[in-house]
Amino acid sequence: MSKLNAGLVQTSLAEASIARLDQLEVFGSIASTNTHLLTQPAPAAGRFRVAIADHQTSGRGRHNRRWLSPPGSGLCLSLAYTFAAQREDLPALTLALGVGILGGLQSLDVGGISLKWPNDIVALDGKLGGVLTEVQSGIGAGVTVVTGIGLNIDLPDDLDFGLESDWALRSVDLKSIAADVPERELIAGALIGSMHVAMATFDAQGFDAFIESWQRHDWLRGKEITVDLLEQRITGIAAGVDADGALIIDTGEERTRVISGSIVVANLVDKA
Ligand code: BTN
Repeated sequence: MSKLNAGLVQTSLAEASIARLDQLEVFGSIASTNTHLLTQPAPAAGRFRVAIADHQTSGRGRHNRRWLSPPGSGLCLSLAYTFAAQREDLPALTLALGVGILGGLQSLDVGGISLKWPNDIVALDGKLGGVLTEVQSGIGAGVTVVTGIGLNIDLPDDLDFGLESDWALRSVDLKSIAADVPERELIAGALIGSMHVAMATFDAQGFDAFIESWQRHDWLRGKEITVDLLEQRITGIAAGVDADGALIIDTGEERTRVISGSIVVANLVDKA
């Protein structure tokens, strides 16, 4: 697979994205597109900037895990967006961006995708991608957020993925689920558009605008799960998310809200 063509990414962007885009940077190799954007000037409120890389040498995931992206195997894309005011609902932003990313892939005719709370893109019961949201800074009254997506497109067979996820038995790539895998530049253009729209919609309406779609694509719903919290382990049936984006677990005795934690899914069998 060839290196990313910056011109092709640029021409694949929708007018609405171009109007609000401060800067688009395309790298062959970089430590981490999220880390890069966290050091760049924050966009003005309502505007955004993007960094894309073919691969990363120090890609990061949640819970200090690595994000592995060998050259030519996928897409590493981060988007920085500035909200005009500080907000308390940012924990739900990753879920909203998951809905946006799913929509971006569907616009390319990639189906069969669901979302695993809080930040995984799922296909064939495996991990197709992951989302990492980090707060860059508060500028003035506002707050700048960097959200990065790592998407597997054409993984090498020998990728040692095992230890980098608490739930997924394996990684999945687009090549395994799509009849025709679009050019990575087109995927980047679609994701930039859908992530930007998700940020702007969240800015105006919060998680309310996303919850119905999130519940429809909830991969965990109905599954028996165990969540390790700091001083507690909860086992029960995943029962969707609430208006704040917290995961609801039905233990049989009560419904518990979880806002952060590692999730183990019972009875998950690798069918690959
Ligand atoms: C996870 O699964 O825990 C999240 C993975 C997020 C990976 C993406 S790749 C682009 C951006 N840069 C990073 O270092 N991480 C995110």
